[in-house]
Amino acid sequence: MEFTSEVKKATEPIYQKISKILPEIEWSTHAPYIHKINKLKKEKNAIILAHNYQTPEIYHGIADVAADSLALAIEASKTKADLIIMCGVHFMAETAKLMNPQKKVLLPDMSAGCSLSSSITGKDVKLLKEKYPGVPVVSYVNTSADVKAETDICCTSANAVKIVNSLEVKKVIFLPDDYLAKYVASQTDVEIISWKGTCIVHEQFNEKEIKEIRKNNPGIKIIAHPECPPDVISASDFAGSTTGMIRYVEKNQPEKVMMVTECSMSDNVQIENPNVKFVKPCNLCPHMKKITLPKILNCLENETNEIIMSNEIIEKARLSVERMTAIGR
Ligand code: 13P
Ligand code: SF4
Repeated sequence: MEFTSEVKKATEPIYQKISKILPEIEWSTHAPYIHKINKLKKEKNAIILAHNYQTPEIYHGIADVAADSLALAIEASKTKADLIIMCGVHFMAETAKLMNPQKKVLLPDMSAGCSLSSSITGKDVKLLKEKYPGVPVVSYVNTSADVKAETDICCTSANAVKIVNSLEVKKVIFLPDDYLAKYVASQTDVEIISWKGTCIVHEQFNEKEIKEIRKNNPGIKIIAHPECPPDVISASDFAGSTTGMIRYVEKNQPEKVMMVTECSMSDNVQIENPNVKFVKPCNLCPHMKKITLPKILNCLENETNEIIMSNEIIEKARLSVERMTAIGR
């Protein structure tokens, strides 16, 4: 696609915003896609929902809403658009479909998965329920619709503790993230039965690295996602969902910060917080990075990669997400 003068003019305000982190040479390849996608989404009454881990050209260039998984689920339930394009991973697109089953939900790359989601199946949850009869199941939203269909209530990293406490029980099955389960256990008196899933991005961080960064950057604020190992969270100043971390930076405006999470997020947040210096990790989520502008355009043009589920699964799984959104953040 060509970087014509029309494209240059139409996309200039976006480039002004992201030029700080994106070289001009790269912009000339992104801009024609951004221009075409933005035109087409209006014509088709489509909404583009993007997770905070998407690359800056997606996050700042074409997203109508860029947010954490809780806000994306809520937005999906409220939208008046005819078509939802999820720039994120498969479980996020499934969740959007559950929240709005009559809408067409498209995922630009169907192989964009998640190590947590693929660590457990609906059958595994059935077996856990047999082993622990009567114990409620709380599932992280990073799970398939089959798992959600066997779940009492979902949660995200933004509300996991609140959701567990809301059940007013002594014991819960909390799955599939073992580290998030440990984080929740540290914040509540409820006994947690966990599953051995991990996020391939967050499990790579370690306490030694965090301590070294703190030593080499006096005064730095270190903020971590609760999918990190417990010693990483203990060595950090704050733990929260991706949006929780963004709000921390916006509110506190630290001189220097490290966001212990997927690294595109630091690029995205840096643009809106020019006075904050970012020490950037280089852990990328290979699934999130499968979403690219050419794939988004193809999906929007041809309406391919539609999320299809049976009505039975939609009905069962939706209940667990709706119970969560009723409680909120
Ligand atoms: P958030 O819900 O915090 O956006 O996290 C989703 C995710 O996949 C983190 O790895
Ligand atoms: Fe899944 Fe981790 Fe990627 Fe988030 S960052 S989508 S939890 S693999």
